[in-house]
Amino acid sequence: MSSALKLTIANLDEAFGDVLVVLVGKDGKLGPEAAKRLGKAGAARIAAAAEAESFAGKSGATLSLPAETGFREKTTHLVLVGTETAESQKADFLKLGGQIQAKLPKGRHASILAAGPDGPIGPDAVAGMALGMKLAAYRFDRYQTQKKGDDAEAPGASAVTLLAENAAAARRELKTQDAIFSGVTLARDLVNEPPNILTPTEFASRAAALEKLGVEIDILDEKALKKLGMRALLGVGQGSEQESRVVIMKWLGAKDEKAQPVAFIGKGVVFDTGGISIKPAQGMEDMKGDMAGAAAVVGLMHALAARKAKANVIGAIGLVENMPDGNAQRPGDIVTSMSGQTIEIINTDAEGRLVLADVLWHVKQKYNPKFMINLATLTGAIMVALGQEHAGLFSNNDDLAGNLLKAGTATGEKLWRMPLGPEYDKIIDSKFADVKNSGGRYGGAITAAQFLQRFVDGCPWAHLDIAGTAMSSPSTDINKSWGSGFGVRLLDRLVAENYEG
Ligand code: BES
Ligand code: MN
Ligand code: ZN
Repeated sequence: MSSALKLTIANLDEAFGDVLVVLVGKDGKLGPEAAKRLGKAGAARIAAAAEAESFAGKSGATLSLPAETGFREKTTHLVLVGTETAESQKADFLKLGGQIQAKLPKGRHASILAAGPDGPIGPDAVAGMALGMKLAAYRFDRYQTQKKGDDAEAPGASAVTLLAENAAAARRELKTQDAIFSGVTLARDLVNEPPNILTPTEFASRAAALEKLGVEIDILDEKALKKLGMRALLGVGQGSEQESRVVIMKWLGAKDEKAQPVAFIGKGVVFDTGGISIKPAQGMEDMKGDMAGAAAVVGLMHALAARKAKANVIGAIGLVENMPDGNAQRPGDIVTSMSGQTIEIINTDAEGRLVLADVLWHVKQKYNPKFMINLATLTGAIMVALGQEHAGLFSNNDDLAGNLLKAGTATGEKLWRMPLGPEYDKIIDSKFADVKNSGGRYGGAITAAQFLQRFVDGCPWAHLDIAGTAMSSPSTDINKSWGSGFGVRLLDRLVAENYEG
């Protein structure tokens, strides 16, 4: 559940609220709009305060001041925000929005003069700043019954008005950004939900709610999955009381409804105990987030449908719970995947790849997409390799990988390309079956990717290992939540830049 931020966009000459945020340049230098609105006295006061506090106007640095009496009827606080190094890029304004949100006093009406030291800020940047503020204000407080409203940890003003040069255009752009915001919020909510609530069936019904946005939903239950032969996926869920599900979401927004779609596939292990190869107790609660790939796919489908993206997009998620009961899968078991390839189970904790193997194969056979991109909290090894700043990118297609890397840089959801190759692939050959589900510790993220590649049937494909970026990631300017919603903005951008219109 998000604490919603009430945000509006008005013209530059609109009256100020209780709090006024002014973007300033080097050493607190005011731009022309701010100089005009604040007058000589205001400008002198700001220059003096900047000097006294040695405020250099570095990007993101802030200085809060009481507004002197008579300065402006209503305004009681000024917040100076440095923009010295802000380039005219959306990612920077997104960040700036988050930084501003954190500095606004609670319960007040804040106005932000969306004009920098060099003049007004364009509509895209204004909307980007608004998105940054909203993302920063998100808190998951659904289960905190004692801490609500004023007590809640969420910072920020009760209402924010962005004063912009071309308010109408900025408002139009904000509509798009709001669609993306609700997609990210949905993904974060799903990742943050506890695993007793968010079972595979509950997850499926949350995904089914996208129907109201015009997304076609197909929920495959265990009977349907058996019929399709998804025994790799079903094997993971067989030690749980909870039934497994696969959900297929279809958004047909292209001019031609029959045009070849693109496809996004998500790992949705609603809780990963490790199964019989059980995980240590320490930190196991984090494994409620092992469905972050599926959450990102649902959030992405929401964003695309809400902004009526002109593309045909398939979203597919494999939903299972990995538990160790008397019926659970064992190390040594051999299962036959939907593709016909047999898999030797070495470690029941390498379950995500088993789920994805069948969903990838199914999507390729049924929808023949232009490409498949899967998202998964797949390995601890990717965190050893990349930490929590980049998600691992594995791909059999350089164009797709290039587009993804570009979208990553543009959105700040950064990717780092990792290698694939026959030498790595050999490691997962099995003594008893066609392939084994673990290649051991060395190159663990890579051998996991090699496993997936055996199930894409030559389709252009990319795998994003988001174990380090989707949950429990360090707090940033635009994310204070345990579940980050990583992947929604990235893939929305990928579609917008390459597959629409
Ligand atoms: N869900 C985990 C990976 C994970 C670890 C995600 C930490 C987020 C945080 C995955 O199912 C797993 O257990 N992977 C094993 C694979 C191994 C048994 C081959 C791992 O990474 O240790
Ligand atoms: Mn596991
Ligand atoms: Zn897992």
